[in-house]
Amino acid sequence: MDTFVIDGGRRLEGSIRVFGAKNAALPLMAAALLTDQPLVFEDVPDLADIRNMTRLLAELGCPPADAPPGSRRVTLQTVDPSQNHARYDIVKTMRASICALGPTLASRGEARVAMPGGCLIGDRPVDLHLRGLRALGAEITLENGDIVARAPGGRLKGARIFLGGNFGSTVLGTANVLSAATLASGTTVIESAACEPEIVDLARLLTSMGAKIRGAGSPRITVEGVEQLGGATHTVMPDRIEAGTLICAAAITNSVLTIENCPIDSLMAVTDRLRVSGVHVETLSEDGPDRATCRVSSERVLKPIEVTTQPFPGFPTDLQAQLLALLCLSDGNSVVTEKIFPERFMHVPELARMGARMHREGATVVVSGVRRLRGAPVMASDLRASASLVLAGLAAEGTTVVQRVYHLDRGYEQLETRLQALGASIRRVDEADL
Ligand code: EPZ
Repeated sequence: MDTFVIDGGRRLEGSIRVFGAKNAALPLMAAALLTDQPLVFEDVPDLADIRNMTRLLAELGCPPADAPPGSRRVTLQTVDPSQNHARYDIVKTMRASICALGPTLASRGEARVAMPGGCLIGDRPVDLHLRGLRALGAEITLENGDIVARAPGGRLKGARIFLGGNFGSTVLGTANVLSAATLASGTTVIESAACEPEIVDLARLLTSMGAKIRGAGSPRITVEGVEQLGGATHTVMPDRIEAGTLICAAAITNSVLTIENCPIDSLMAVTDRLRVSGVHVETLSEDGPDRATCRVSSERVLKPIEVTTQPFPGFPTDLQAQLLALLCLSDGNSVVTEKIFPERFMHVPELARMGARMHREGATVVVSGVRRLRGAPVMASDLRASASLVLAGLAAEGTTVVQRVYHLDRGYEQLETRLQALGASIRRVDEADL
């Protein structure tokens, strides 16, 4: 298995471009199931999760067209709408496969999708997805671990749906119901919809395919169902979590970095909190809707802060682990509370191996800043925890070996190569060669 070997303590410098967002691309690609026309996506990141989604869509009769390697272009077109079974052996590799459920059901009248399991950040239920689709008239049963959904008469019916749960809105649940509602008969109103930028990006694509959607990005989304949807070309929005991770990389190494294609408008909660701590993100140029070139710099010693993760526009849970790594080196006690996935702290004991001082009480961690972290062998456990350990390794004295970086490869493309280009000493090594 691959590891990262990081010699810490080096300043970074130069500029780095943010790639297209994994968490936007996955539901965007699933929208190809809603039409028999081609969808062309630009700036698709080359990630394990994307390759898994492509494999899943091919099994659902929606294969990718050949594209030049490195083109970052994906073209998808439904050629066999009779396929409607998303098998467990694909779904178990990527729980986001659930976002194929709504589009398959809406366009084909029936869908069978393996129940996604949990993962290390939580048990990841899908009850809200099923509530939303049932509200659209779907008959849903569980058969041998599969969700089996049918639309009576072959077509869903618009409805008013409350999609909020105990932890607030659901991003992929909103994507599923929004996508399905575009082909339902009549009007659908989704209350307590997720407001994440990835939902806005999905609505942008669906609208370009002919859907009639109002209110995406707000807690109330209204959809007028249409008979059919057409093809479109769409550029995936920049990855706000990758951008936030790179901002933390600059801050934890006390570097000045230029970040291109940065979705700075989608990161206001992050830059607001980091500014209080002493990290400055300055916009150098506006390059398009929610795309800017930014310059990151930071005070020599960061101040402690209090952060609670929340649904958008609050501080994103996907940057909690990276923030924790940064706060390990701040001057004082910071308090971080995780309101979305209360168990999302697998990175805490690993950071402690590097000398971090943290105390966890349930969904809250108090971080007592230390003057330095020390390199150590550490174990990645999930995507964002892996990123947290890489950040800590960049700042630590000595060598850090991050094991099981396949977790990182799910959501960060060529991270080590891109950090090397900024001056970091980080290399990918097979653990057998260590
Ligand atoms: C998306 O997951 C992201 N994944 C996650 O990013 C992200 O952490 C999460 O949204 C929250 O922002 C993708 O977009 C592929 P949710 P999703 O449904 O949609 C509970 C990463 O690191 N819930 O918004 O699956 C749930 O347990 C990944 O890139 C229910 O109770 O998350 C959680 O507490 C990790 N019932 C909260 O809602 C449901 O039916 C938010 O989950 C669905 C969710």
